Amino acid sequence: LEGQALTQLQQCADETALRAWNTQYFGDKGVMKAAMSKLSGIPKEQKPAFGAEMNRIKAAITTAYEAALADTKEKALQVSLTTNPLDVTLPGRAPARGRLHPATQILRQIYSIFADLGFQVYRTREVETDELNFEFLNMPAHHPARDMWDTFFTTTPGVVLRTHTSPGQIHVMREAAGKPVRVILPGMCYRNEAISTRSEIQFYQVEGLVVGEGVTMADLKGTITAFARRMFGPERQVRIRSSYFPFTEPSIEVDIDWPKDDPNRDRLTKGTGWLEILGAGMVHPNVLRAGGYDPEKVTGFAFGMGPQRMLMLKHAIDDIRLFWQNDLRFLKQF
Ligand code: PHE
Repeated sequence: LEGQALTQLQQCADETALRAWNTQYFGDKGVMKAAMSKLSGIPKEQKPAFGAEMNRIKAAITTAYEAALADTKEKALQVSLTTNPLDVTLPGRAPARGRLHPATQILRQIYSIFADLGFQVYRTREVETDELNFEFLNMPAHHPARDMWDTFFTTTPGVVLRTHTSPGQIHVMREAAGKPVRVILPGMCYRNEAISTRSEIQFYQVEGLVVGEGVTMADLKGTITAFARRMFGPERQVRIRSSYFPFTEPSIEVDIDWPKDDPNRDRLTKGTGWLEILGAGMVHPNVLRAGGYDPEKVTGFAFGMGPQRMLMLKHAIDDIRLFWQNDLRFLKQF
């Protein structure tokens, strides 16, 4: 019995065969049960010896079966490892991480500085009427100052792509309906200009508008100084020059002293040490009126800046076209 069991066991090629062997010998109708049933026909005095021998055989073939089973499983594992190799010690592949566009980054920086100064963000449309883009901003038809902006006209008469964020001033004032205003108006603007290292046909602007009783030029200067110091460094000085915009009176342009330790200082400031960062002024009475405010009761200031230009100044970027070219070598540096 033992020899036959062991021989058959050796002939089992895989786990399925081994398990069948196990059922054949140890199952309910198995060989071992059948062998044990012979016990009743055996003379009494031989029974203990028969029982002991049966137990020995049972133990021996069980041990052999378990060893064969373990051996078969191990072999199957080796086969699967060599035909289907998987190196669990390989480091994983890091997923590529995205990032914000540099223009978005500088915009968000500007939002957070003005948020600290109590300004809300207000967005208005990029397609405007001639009225909003010019007329309500104190530039009636044929006003020569319209030439300050090379305008994209649409096929619909009287509809233009906004050349600046200033029409947003009118939208905000009309919505605020006489209440005090303190907002920034970020957004895309469009100008029909020859594309060069210095000008693009589309670019961001951030407009600022504050309207209320007793708002003065000193408030404008203080706001811009606070902004410039947060954006360009706590030591920055601002310089105010007289300028002209139809929608502000008086109008100014604001320069900052460029940090002395910047190796690009001379080139950026053309040797003067000062760089223009924005245009601004006190809101013209006609513009306040167009927004529904009484210039006898309230005053206001407004400013307009180019966030992309600010980023270019901060990082000595010399070509504005890099912003919309989607060249990852440029974008990944921010
Ligand atoms: N809108 C002006 C421009 O595009 C900038 C500006 C805004 C100037 C607000 C004064 C006040 O050049």
